[in-house]
Amino acid sequence: MTDQNETGHTRRDFIKRFSVWAAVSAGILASISLLRQFVPRISRYQKRFKIGRKNNYPVNTFTYLADKQLFVYRDHEGIRAVSAVCTHLGCIIEKSDDGFQCPCHGSCYSEEGEVLSGAATKDLPWYELQKDVDGQIVVDQSRLVDPERKLYI
Ligand code: FES
Repeated sequence: MTDQNETGHTRRDFIKRFSVWAAVSAGILASISLLRQFVPRISRYQKRFKIGRKNNYPVNTFTYLADKQLFVYRDHEGIRAVSAVCTHLGCIIEKSDDGFQCPCHGSCYSEEGEVLSGAATKDLPWYELQKDVDGQIVVDQSRLVDPERKLYI
């Protein structure tokens, strides 16, 4: 008894073709996920967006906006915004007692976003803020500013 069907294909041919197809598919999927690491996370987001009014932000506090990957700091004079994306490989940083810390490879930043230690070599970027005609604060991520520059409110 042979495992050849009427078209001349054997079970062995089918298994070979299926194995090649599965290996190629796995290779393509692995390549796509590898390449996605090199696409900056920030590119998925709008560069200019509203973050509400000043009263949304407690005074002398860093408020984390998860959907914008941003920390907003308000004091009695004004408001500022710094990226929450680690400049090393793009993990989301967390607030620490005296600044920020990255959970991935341990980079530490001051409250001004300056690299203090770890794998990161670039400081965190601060973004220009403006007030819209409707009174909402607008973040413009295409414009970087000095850490001490704030939107006076
Ligand atoms: S991604 Fe933050 S230290 Fe590596």
